[in-house]
Amino acid sequence: MYVELKNVNKKFGTHEASHDICFGIEKGKLVALLGPSGSGKTTILRMIAGLESPDSGDIIIDGKVVNDVPASRRGIGFVFQSYALFRYMTVFDNIAFGLQVQKKDKKYIRERVMELIRLTGLDGMEKRYPNQLSGGQRQRVAFARALAPSPSLLLLDEPFAAVDAKVRHELRSWLKNMIRQVGITSIFVTHDQDEAVEVADEIIVTNLGRIEQIGSPVEIYQHPATPFVAQFIGNSAVVEDYGRFRGFREVEGLPHAIVRPEYVEAFKQDNEKYRDLIDYAEEGTVEDIAFRGSYLEVKLNVCGATLTTNRSLERRELQKGEKMYVLLYRLYVFDHDRAQLLENEELKGLEIVGG
Ligand SMILES: Nc1ncnc2c1ncn2[C@@H]1O[C@H](COP(=O)(O)OP(=O)(O)O)[C@@H](O)[C@H]1O
Ligand SMILES: [Mg+2]
Repeated sequence: MYVELKNVNKKFGTHEASHDICFGIEKGKLVALLGPSGSGKTTILRMIAGLESPDSGDIIIDGKVVNDVPASRRGIGFVFQSYALFRYMTVFDNIAFGLQVQKKDKKYIRERVMELIRLTGLDGMEKRYPNQLSGGQRQRVAFARALAPSPSLLLLDEPFAAVDAKVRHELRSWLKNMIRQVGITSIFVTHDQDEAVEVADEIIVTNLGRIEQIGSPVEIYQHPATPFVAQFIGNSAVVEDYGRFRGFREVEGLPHAIVRPEYVEAFKQDNEKYRDLIDYAEEGTVEDIAFRGSYLEVKLNVCGATLTTNRSLERRELQKGEKMYVLLYRLYVFDHDRAQLLENEELKGLEIVGG
């Protein structure tokens, strides 16, 4: 493990910002810390950077306990959401800053800065000032500045939060490629699940100062380990009395269910292709249809509950109030501390799921 946190605790007054945090990150990986605002993500990052000290526990970088190593000696690059560039410095000088602090010679600085300007696609902008750049370009400069002293670990705290939605999207894949190319171990903080899923090799989900789950984006999505993760990830709706749906019986002690759009399939009542499945379907009524760009989000009333499904734009048009047949493949059922996937008993033998 290149970075390791062992039983790290941190309180601010009586508030437990980090409770027994343990995780390890392999060299070269890009890991996301994902959780709602206030869940303790920034605190973890600041302790790794040396800007905050843990009350107990160890922070290990490259096999060495760094608890007593000052921030400036940890070899870490930092990109903050709010860490504005130096306004009165050009792009070149902003990127050169860390190297000048290290008193590198002029020739080396010039070559290194120009190398980063090329790498980050900022060619021709080295004489501009931050206010002459777009939000996306500014974050590229911030990224180049963090990389300039060749850190061995890169920490990014919600780096796209201040950038508008479209640019944020482009920056995500740009950043992912860039980090791959440089091969630097990186930890990326975000409260946005799409961002984490798209960018990270591995996700660490935080909630109330604790780690809820660590896993690949697919693992976290398909096998949420806790009720919190199940509700936080995916477009999840919580439904009670799930025993009312055909194919499901309520599990003792697990009274709530989560339904995600991909668990639900709706088809028109005259659809011949699905005729054999009518016996297994519920009847549902279209409550609402929302255009989501590349698909439709359809809300259906099924046995008094509202379920959501995503529908391809290629399929036939729907009307509000239209009656449809609805297949409910599975549910994620849970209580405070226990959760499990529940398959539709009647559909089990049919091998239609995932087909
Ligand atoms: N310096 C501080 N003093 C007091 N409370 C703090 C301080 N830093 C963070 N906190 C509290 O610790 C909790 C976790 O904060 P933070 O790590 O910033 O969460 P996140 O980055 O997930 O939004 C919050 O409740 C926050 O108010
Ligand atoms: Mg934060």
